[in-house]
Amino acid sequence: MITWKNEEFSPAQIKFVWESENAYKEAGLSEENSHLFGGKFSQIFHTMQNNKFMIYAGMGKAEKLDGRKFKNVVAKAARTITSFNVKEFSVDVTALTEVYKEKAYFDFVAGVELGLYKYEGVRVETYKENDYTVYLIDNTFNKEQSNQYFEKAKNIVDGMIHTRDWVNMPGNMLTPDEFANSLSEVLSDAGCEVTVFCEDKLADMGAGALLAVGESSDDKPRLVVMKYMGNPNSKNIYGFVGKGVTVDTGGYSLKTAASLMYTKGDMGGAAAVAGAIYAIAKNKLKVNVVAVIPTCENRLSNQSRIPGDVVKSMNGKTIEILNTDAEGRLILADALTYAVREEKVTHIVDVATLTGAVVGALGTVAAGCMTNDEEYLSDFYDAAKTAGERYWQLPLFEEYEEMLSSKVADIKNTGSGTAGSIAAGLFLREFVEETPWIHLDIAGTSQTEAPSNDYHCFGGTGFAAPSLYFLAEAHQDI
Ligand code: BES
Ligand code: MG
Ligand code: ZN
Repeated sequence: MITWKNEEFSPAQIKFVWESENAYKEAGLSEENSHLFGGKFSQIFHTMQNNKFMIYAGMGKAEKLDGRKFKNVVAKAARTITSFNVKEFSVDVTALTEVYKEKAYFDFVAGVELGLYKYEGVRVETYKENDYTVYLIDNTFNKEQSNQYFEKAKNIVDGMIHTRDWVNMPGNMLTPDEFANSLSEVLSDAGCEVTVFCEDKLADMGAGALLAVGESSDDKPRLVVMKYMGNPNSKNIYGFVGKGVTVDTGGYSLKTAASLMYTKGDMGGAAAVAGAIYAIAKNKLKVNVVAVIPTCENRLSNQSRIPGDVVKSMNGKTIEILNTDAEGRLILADALTYAVREEKVTHIVDVATLTGAVVGALGTVAAGCMTNDEEYLSDFYDAAKTAGERYWQLPLFEEYEEMLSSKVADIKNTGSGTAGSIAAGLFLREFVEETPWIHLDIAGTSQTEAPSNDYHCFGGTGFAAPSLYFLAEAHQDI
C-alpha cells in the first residue's frame, strides 16, 4: 500500500532529470565525474548529498520518450530507492510536468504504484513490508492543481490495480459468484449501477451459449452489468464487454497439465473492463458506459457440453461446439447480444484472453486487435498511445469466413486450425450486428510470468484498462 502526500519531505528523494550536458551538475557531480550521470534514458544514480539520500533518474531526450518508457524509468527509480530499505521518500516530478504538464501525472503515478505493486495474496504473513509513503514535489503547478491532477491519475491507476488483484486471485477463491459480488461491491462504491443476472434469469433470457459453458460447474454462471451514465444528453453508449472465465480446464477438450496453470487469469478481459469503468466513474467522465461481464467456469462434469453438441445463443443463432476449450467466444457471443439488444450500446469494445494463437503471433508485449470499423480503431489507437500500451491489428479477411461454417448449425466455434485469433474475431463479429466494434485479444499481455519491464511483476499486468479509460475520456460530450 502506498500513501501519497502532497508535502515537502527531503531525507530521501527521487529526482527526474532530462539528458543534457549539464545533467551531472544537478546530481552534484564535478566535471571529472560527469560520466557517472548524464540523464541518459533509464540511467539511475544514487548518492548522499547534504545528508540526503538522492536517486537521480535519467529520462533521456523528451522527444524520444513515450508512455511505456516513462512508466518504466519511474518504476525503476522507485524500485531502486526501496531496495535500500527506504520506506518514505519524495518524488520531484517538476522536470516531467514542465514538459508534459497534466499528462505526466498518469505516467509517474502509474510508474510508482505499479512498480511497487505486490499482490497481497493469501499467505499467512502479508506484505506489510510493502507499505510506503510517497511525497509529491511538483513546482510546475500549485498545490490545488497538483492535487486535482493527482487524484484523477490515481483513480486510473487504482482501476489497473483492481484489474491486477482480480487476475491474481486464485480460481477457487474467485468463483463466478464471488467475482460478481466483488464487482458489485467495488463498482457500486465507484458510482455505477450494477445488476447481476443469475442462471435462472439467464435461461429466461435465452443465454444458451453462456449457459452451455457455465453449466459445467456447480458454481453457476453470472452476467454482470455495470452502468455509468455520465452524459445523459448523448445518444452514444460505449459498451465494454469482457471475458470472465474464472478457471478454464478446457472441458472435454481438456487442457494439458502445463496449459492448465494460470488459467485463473482467464477473466483478465473482464477485470480490465471493470478496472476501466471504475476509473471512468470515479473521475465522473461525461460519457455513457456500460460494461458487460459474462463470468463462469469451464469444467469437466456430466453437465459439460461434448464436442459435437449444438446450442442456441441469445441472438437466436445455433452454434456447433466442436471444441469445448473455445469457450470464451461462446460466453462473449451472448454478452455481445445482450449489450447490443438490451443495453442499446452504440459502440463496442470486447476484451478477452481468447486465443493461444495471438501469443504465438505477437508474443507478450502487444495484444491483437480486430475491428469492423477502422475509424473507431483509429480512436482506440490514440487512447492506447496515451495509456502506453501496444496493440497490433489482425485482418478479418473474407476468405476466412468460410472456416466457421458448420454442417449442422448456423456457425461452429472453431476454425480450421490456422489463423486461430482471426477465426475467433470472425466468430465474435457475428454477434455485434451493425455496431462499430473492436475486439482485443489480450491472451499474451494480461498476465506475465517473465516481466519485460519494471512496472510489471509476476501475475496480472492491468493491461487494457487504461486504454479503455482514455478511449472513454476522448469520447466525452460526444
Ligand atoms: N483462455 C484460452 C486462451 C489462452 C491460451 C489464454 C493461452 C492465455 C494463454 C482459451 O479459452 C482457449 O483455450 N482457446 C483455445 C481455442 C482453440 C481451442 C480454438 C486455444 O487458443 O487453444
Ligand atoms: Mg479455453
Ligand atoms: Zn479460456
